[in-house]
Amino acid sequence: MNEVYEKLKLCLNSVREKTDFRPETALILGSGLGDYADDIQIEQTIDYSEIEGFPVSTVPGHKGRFVFGYVNRVPVVIMQGRVHFYEGYPMSDVVLPTRLMGMLGAGKLILTNAAGGVNVNFNAGDFMLITDHITTGIPSPLIGPNLEELGTRFPDMSEVYSLRLRGIIKKEAAQLGIVLREGVYVQLTGPAYETPAEIRMYRSWGADAVGMSTACEAMAARHMGMEVCGISCITNMAAGMTTKQLDHKEVQETADRVAGQFKKLITAVIGKI
Ligand code: HPA
Repeated sequence: MNEVYEKLKLCLNSVREKTDFRPETALILGSGLGDYADDIQIEQTIDYSEIEGFPVSTVPGHKGRFVFGYVNRVPVVIMQGRVHFYEGYPMSDVVLPTRLMGMLGAGKLILTNAAGGVNVNFNAGDFMLITDHITTGIPSPLIGPNLEELGTRFPDMSEVYSLRLRGIIKKEAAQLGIVLREGVYVQLTGPAYETPAEIRMYRSWGADAVGMSTACEAMAARHMGMEVCGISCITNMAAGMTTKQLDHKEVQETADRVAGQFKKLITAVIGKI
C-alpha cells in the first residue's frame, strides 16, 4: 500500500477507536476563528496528539483538536487548528486532516482562513467568498503516487469551489445583512508575509486575497470528490497597500473583531447545505 494512504488508514483507525460519529460536513477554522467550535453542540473532541501519526500544529492561536458535534442538527466535524506547510510538514501531511475528515464521512467541506486583501476595494474586516484559487506558489498536495482509493490521477479543478454552495452562502449572507466580497485566493508558503512587489504581481495575476493555507486542502478534497467552499476573513490589507507593517497580532485582532458575524454566517450556511 502507498505510504501516504497507510498513514491515513492508521489515523482513521485511531479515530474510529475513539468515536463512531459520522459527520456530513467538515469545517476548518482559520486563524482567530477557532472559538467557533466551542459554541456548537459538542458530542466529542479528539486532540490531534491522541491520533497516531497525526501532524500537530505549532502556531500560537491555533488549538489542535477535532470537535465532533451538531450545528443546526447537522452532524459536523470541525478542525480547531490546522496544519500549515510553513511549519515544515510535507504537503501530504498538511492535507491529511482534510482527507481524514472525508474518510470519516464528510461529503462537504467549508474552509475558512485569515487572508491579506489584495483587491484595492477591500477593507480589513471584510469577508470574501472564495470563487477560485491560484496554487502556483506551493507544491501540489497531489504530487507522488496517486491515491487511487481516493481519486483519479489527473483530477479536474475547473470548479473547486462549488457553485451550488457559493449560491447558498451568498443568499445566507444577504439575509443576515453581512457584506460578502468575492474573489480569487492565492496560497503562498509563508511564513513571511509578502513584499509589496509580490503583492503587485499577484494582483496582476488576478488575485483578490493572499494567504498561507486553504487552497491545498481544497485540492485534496476535490481530488476525493468532496463538495468544497471557502470564506476568507480579510484581516489586513496586503503588504504595501497601507503604511502599516504586517503582524500576526493584527490578523488575530481583526479576526476576533468580526468573529460574531462569521459565526452567524457559518451556522446559517451549515444548516442549508
Ligand atoms: N499575507 C499572507 N497571509 C495572510 C495575510 C497576508 O497579508 N494576512 C493573513 N494571512
